[in-house]
Amino acid sequence: MPLVTSTEMFKKAYDGGYAIGAFNVNNMEIVQGITEAAKDLNAPLILQVSKGARAYANHTYLMKLVEAAVIETQLPICLHLDHGDTFETCKSCIDGGFTSVMIDASSKPFAENIEITKQVVEYAHDHGVVVEAELGTLAGIEDEVKVSAEDSSYTRPEEVEEFVSKTGCDSLAIAIGTSHGAYKFKPGTKPQLRFDVLEEVSKRLPGFPIVLHGSSSVPQEFVEKINHFGGNMPGAVGVPEDQLRKAASMSVCKINIDSDLRLAMTATIREFFAEHPDKFDPREYLKPARQAIKEMVAHKIKDVLGCDNKA
Ligand code: G3H
Ligand code: 13P
Ligand code: ZN
Repeated sequence: MPLVTSTEMFKKAYDGGYAIGAFNVNNMEIVQGITEAAKDLNAPLILQVSKGARAYANHTYLMKLVEAAVIETQLPICLHLDHGDTFETCKSCIDGGFTSVMIDASSKPFAENIEITKQVVEYAHDHGVVVEAELGTLAGIEDEVKVSAEDSSYTRPEEVEEFVSKTGCDSLAIAIGTSHGAYKFKPGTKPQLRFDVLEEVSKRLPGFPIVLHGSSSVPQEFVEKINHFGGNMPGAVGVPEDQLRKAASMSVCKINIDSDLRLAMTATIREFFAEHPDKFDPREYLKPARQAIKEMVAHKIKDVLGCDNKA
């Protein structure tokens, strides 16, 4: 089976009240950990690559790793550009074999966001590729862009119909209180996503797939493990998983998770070195790290996204 677009996945997810996991990939062990979990659970999958990942690992290496995962798993896998910042970056991924791209012009004024998104949609659709766009701004860090909590803004539901009809985008990322990275909410606070905004958006865009970025839950066990084994992470709080499950049962069809995989991988490697200070073979510490990613993804698929047995 070749790489697929997210069109069919989203249709089934919308109707079935679940979401597809979109996990960020940067190297072989991450690709393997994610795809082995999805294979065991027979789950459809979106693997996404950021501009930073392309700069780190190289487009062709990532492409070939994902193609290998398709052969190994026989699963429907969509390869997606995460946070494309320009038409040129999106074009390069479309020309280079991705089946989905995000154009993130959410920090630009509304009219400009429409203009650049429309340009990407026209090129992508001509090449059989689907496009995710974004309205509203999330707090946090993505590539070199840092948005402070004060500068973030919820999506304005009254803008979504005009945006979608003028751009022709295939899915829409919205801001309802999630944010990127491990430090989403102050320790001690009880995060609450704005389900009223999600409901209003869904009412205005019936049947249309909605995307949530910044959806890591920052499990405390991993933060504690990192700190126990020599790390120094300040208090970190993520998005409660029960709220993500609720969003997945509504119109949210794609949920982006990256930081939780980073935490699982780093905590495991720190533990390994603390317990085996004499070891230096990368295979010995990357093997448990890959297993930790696999377990994290399996948990997300079964307990949060609800997409197990939906491939
Ligand atoms: O939203 C951003 C993703 O977590 C990717 O992060 O830009 O550091 O690769 P990155
Ligand atoms: P997290 O940092 O919450 O994992 O979000 C990842 C993301 O949105 C990738 O686009
Ligand atoms: Zn994101």
